[in-house]
Amino acid sequence: MLLIGSGNAEVGFAEGMEILRRGGSALDAVEAVIHHVESNPEDHSVGYGGLPNILGEVELDASIMDGKTLAAGAVCAVHNYEHPISIARGVMERLPHVMLAGRGAERFARELGMKKRNLLSDEARAIYKAKISDSQRYDTMRELVMRATNDPEIAATAEEYGDETPHGTTNVIALDGAGNLASGVSTSGWAWKYPGRVGDSPIIGAGNYCDNRYGACACTGYGEMAMRSSTAHSVVLYMKMGMGLRQAARQAMKDLRALAVPFPPGMNLVAMDRLGHHVGFTTETDRWADYVYQTGNMQAPKRKKRTVVPLERRIIT
Ligand code: GLY
Repeated sequence: MLLIGSGNAEVGFAEGMEILRRGGSALDAVEAVIHHVESNPEDHSVGYGGLPNILGEVELDASIMDGKTLAAGAVCAVHNYEHPISIARGVMERLPHVMLAGRGAERFARELGMKKRNLLSDEARAIYKAKISDSQRYDTMRELVMRATNDPEIAATAEEYGDETPHGTTNVIALDGAGNLASGVSTSGWAWKYPGRVGDSPIIGAGNYCDNRYGACACTGYGEMAMRSSTAHSVVLYMKMGMGLRQAARQAMKDLRALAVPFPPGMNLVAMDRLGHHVGFTTETDRWADYVYQTGNMQAPKRKKRTVVPLERRIIT
């Protein structure tokens, strides 16, 4: 049995591993780990405490996938519900659909008995106010994101607050004692995003894919790139075509080089094959550099450096 995830998922590994050790399913472990990240106020890229969109509203995306059945559930642009991963699981298990958006997802969360919560923490509100609402500099979304990424002042704040870069997200993949894989992704998306913007996290095949027969992959970073390149599915497909895990992940990262992009990009993935080999890859050398893993024999999770596959930056000017 095995858990892997983006570095910020470590907060939930103790419970996830406990579930796997008790004979629980990979799906249960993934959901439980992600709950911890979604409730972590210090994580400004996921759930409660996530940085808001340009209007100051926290909008969440999430997805979960069952490697045994290839069933999947996803929600996007959800307001006021702390655990989009559980709404996504509800969609997967209770509805004949894969994805619900916005008000429909919130209605379904209410039907599931979930409680509403204001997701904008005081700290996230303060960052938002300091960087966005008191500023008239951000005229268009394009300019806004260019500035958010290049402005040394914002970069310094991002450093100060850890992971609250313009994009973040959490990834978790589990292999349970029965040999089943599951993968989950949850995010508040880009800070200061255009309202209604949806990233790769809830898009099956882009930010998340899982198939017991080959393996699973999940992404963080500039989601638009994973959406245009079907990154998570590519990794699994390359394994299906006969590549080993590391070669498959490297090829999917190299595929991103074909994309011309309007903003300074960054992409990261974690992936596992059906036998429990695991890798982490990134385009960046200094951020999201680690991923985290724990086998059933380990007392605590360990961090491992991701392999760097730099992009050739084809930035549209
Ligand atoms: N990868 C998360 C996002 O772009 O929303």
